[in-house]
Formats: sequence, structure tokens, C-alpha cells
Amino acid sequence: MATNTKPPLTPQQGEPGTVAVTPSDRNLKRGTYEAQRVDGTPKLRLDDLGVTYIDRHGNSTEAVREVTLDVADKPGCGEIIVFLGPSGCGKSTILKAVAGLLPPTRGEVFVDGVPVTDVGRDRGMVFQAYTSFSWLTVRENVEYGPRLQGVPKEKRRAESQKYLEQVGLAEFAERYPKDLSGGMKQRVAIARTLINHPKLVLMDEPFGALDPQTRWGMQSLLLDVSRNEDNTILFVTHDVSEAVYVADTVYVLAPRPTHILHRVDVPFFESRGIHLKSSNEFRNVEKQLLDLIYAPA
Ligand SMILES: Nc1ncnc2c1ncn2[C@@H]1O[C@H](COP(=O)(O)OP(=O)(O)OP(=O)(O)O)[C@@H](O)[C@H]1O
Ligand SMILES: [Mg+2]
Repeated sequence: MATNTKPPLTPQQGEPGTVAVTPSDRNLKRGTYEAQRVDGTPKLRLDDLGVTYIDRHGNSTEAVREVTLDVADKPGCGEIIVFLGPSGCGKSTILKAVAGLLPPTRGEVFVDGVPVTDVGRDRGMVFQAYTSFSWLTVRENVEYGPRLQGVPKEKRRAESQKYLEQVGLAEFAERYPKDLSGGMKQRVAIARTLINHPKLVLMDEPFGALDPQTRWGMQSLLLDVSRNEDNTILFVTHDVSEAVYVADTVYVLAPRPTHILHRVDVPFFESRGIHLKSSNEFRNVEKQLLDLIYAPA
């Protein structure tokens, strides 16, 4: 016999028949972010970006919804923009759309005012999965881009040596990727991208496989690269501490379909050394981000 008891409009976590929600689920519609246009031509513009995947059976998965942001071009000044969000929310999808690997379902991506329709040399991507060419040595992998561009051998060698030393792989230059650990393969991918000097570097959780010490070294390398090469780096991570350490600006993303919940500008730390990580100044920014991610509903 049917009863008149109506289910509560908002099921509470832990009630029979409900699934547990994560703190970020509860925050889904509670972001503070409001998109703002920059003056002049931005380095990067995401304009109402939406991506829905459709598989061959016709099932659709909406990964990204209404992501709008501008990254200003700051001549003479590198910048690191971090996307911080939960697993599966759509971070890699956003990066692939910027790389030109994935056409948006809705909206557009502009780099230097030009719509992105394909991959281009102005953008370089370090993928989440290892992507070394197995039939090339470490050095040949790193020199791959310059070789395609016809850079003379001597110059190529000098450049590859510089980047191999920076990522700590000089002594493995003549080895093949199969002889390397996961973290080492990722460092090959980083060197292979940086050697091309792209103006927009897209890094998809590049340090996920590294031990903490190597990871800190790579974070510092990233800061050096950003300051010296005047490029814009879009950097994806789950790690709040890593986000604060490398970012000029952090965008906190919602679960899928992802959109921007918050924008946090990280104060400019005079020198970002390892000692900074234990300072109150650093911990305060970390806490600010954690409070945003885990704020009570
Ligand atoms: N090629 C694809 N076809 C169908 N669905 C996809 C495809 N690629 C990603 N997705 C789905 O889109 C959503 C977002 O995926 P994406 O890889 O962008 O997440 P992510 O934030 O990078 O996650 P992680 O932190 O685990 O790498 C996921 O639900 C995923 O299953
Ligand atoms: Mg990903």
C-alpha cells in the first residue's frame, strides 16, 4: 500500500539510500569566482568552454561546463596558473582543449587572441601519462622537437645537455626509456617540452610520480623556468602544498562537470625556497585553500 510520506527534498549524508558526498560536492554551487576580462589581448582566454565526451555507443559524459577565464600577457614576467581539483573533474580535459587536441563542444579557447583549432608550436604539453618514444634514447627524445625544426646538431646537443642536467638525467642521456623509472620518464618529458621554449606550457600533474625530494627540486626548476623564459605555465595538480608553492594564481575546480569555484592569487614570495614551505606565510595560504575546498556546507 502506498504511503503519503514524501522523501526529504535534500537527502542528508549517511541516510539510507543516499550516497556519501564529498566536501567538494557540497560546494558545487557555492563558488566565489566571477570571470573578469583583462584589458588588451590576453595570453590565454577560455570563453564559456564546455566539453562533453560521447563514446561510440552514444553515451555522453559532460566533463567541463562554462569555464571562462583570462590570463593576462605580462611581458618580461613568467606566470604559473594552477588548476586544483579532484580526480576525474575535468582538469586534463581543459588542458587538452587548450593544447588543441580536443575540440570544445561549446565555447572557444584563444591564445594571443587567435582561436585554437589545432596543436601548435606555441604550446607544449607534458602529459599525465609517460610519453617518451621508446625507440629513441633519452637525449634523442629531448632533441626531438629541435631536430624537427632543423636546429643544427651542435646547438641541439648544447641545449639538450642543459635541460638534461636541469632535470638530473645527464648521466642517462644514452639510455632508453625502458631503463628508467616512472619519475625519470616524466623528467624526460619535461625536458623534451621545455627545450622547444613554448610560450604556453601545459603540465598535467607532471610531478605525481616523483619522490618528495625530487618533486621539490622539480618545483624549483619550474619556478626558474617560468622566471627566466617569460612563459605562461598552466599546471594541474591535486596537491594543495604544491599549488601554493608554484602558483601565481590558483583556480579551485568543482567536481565533474567541472567549473571554476574560486580564484586565489598567491602573494608574491620574494624567494620561493624550500624553507618557505614551513613559514607561517605559506601555511596561511595553504589554509585559505583548504578552507575553500573543505568549507562546511
Ligand atoms: N576520451 C574520453 N571519453 C569519454 N569520457 C572521458 C574521456 N576522457 C575523459 N573522460 C571523462 O571525463 C571526465 C574528466 O576526465 P579528466 O581526465 O579530464 O579528469 P581529471 O580531472 O584530469 O582527472 P585526474 O585527476 O584523475 O587525472 C571523467 O569523468 C572521465 O571519465
Ligand atoms: Mg587528469
